[in-house]
Amino acid sequence: MSILVSTQDAIMTIEFDRADKKNAITAAMYQTMADALAAAEKDSAVRAILIQGKPEVFTAGNDLSDFMNNPPSGSNTPVFQFLTNISHASKPIVAAAAGAAVGIGTTMLLHCDLVYAAESAKFSMPFASLGLCPEAASSLLLPALAGYQRAAEKLLLGEPFPAAEAQQMGLVNRVLPVGELQSYARARALALAAQPASSLRVTKALMKGVSLERMEAQMAREGGEFRRMLGSPEAKEAFSAFFERRKPDFSRFA
Ligand code: COA
Repeated sequence: MSILVSTQDAIMTIEFDRADKKNAITAAMYQTMADALAAAEKDSAVRAILIQGKPEVFTAGNDLSDFMNNPPSGSNTPVFQFLTNISHASKPIVAAAAGAAVGIGTTMLLHCDLVYAAESAKFSMPFASLGLCPEAASSLLLPALAGYQRAAEKLLLGEPFPAAEAQQMGLVNRVLPVGELQSYARARALALAAQPASSLRVTKALMKGVSLERMEAQMAREGGEFRRMLGSPEAKEAFSAFFERRKPDFSRFA
């Protein structure tokens, strides 16, 4: 089991559970998360969703072996279903991130409503460093959130940045000691669950509705570029370098 899903006290918790691979996300894991979000949408007993990893790691992002051996090819793949469901969720989503939050581990947070981070959290979006391009509408949402230059630094260089910087950028609501993170995030989810569900639905729809069409169009555009770039020699070099534990060499590519 690589994703744990449970519902208690009106909170559906979705937890990454693949610590030996730093919670890297496989197609099967995306499907489980997409299905859980779809089920939450239909279940009136679920009033808030909590996404968390382990105290050591949130997630290392997409499984790089999957990228090499089983790249997502169409627009209805498990990752696309997950992104569609998280970006259209009508119920509030709280995220709690400790340790590394790589790639989609950071960009999925742009679709959550409340984001809490441990002091240990390290965010990164190394798409360009992998010969790829942004996904999850991050090329639209991150500049809108943080300003163009700050977004450009994170998306062009792909370097990890700490929780305090993520908070300054507006990506994180609050930074906590790692031992307090999950209980704090759960308490926030419980507070949301105690609010009138219809008011939260309408409030979310009003806040996100204005930009929904642009977000969908950008996600589709990114998806096309991303799938094309997955087969590029630059991406192959980056994936091989990761598993061979060496630095990639992009100097031979124009
Ligand atoms: N896909 C597949 N396997 C991954 C992975 C990923 N995204 N991230 C980590 N792993 C695996 C490693 O291959 C290693 O497996 P092994 O023990 O069988 O050799 C194991 O998880 C531990 O990873 P390791 O790199 O040794 O841990 P670390 O603590 O030194 O570093 C990270 C943690 C997350 C910083 C580092 O693993 C990393 O950068 N991962 C790749 C992140 C990435 O590029 N994601 C894609 C974004 S689009």
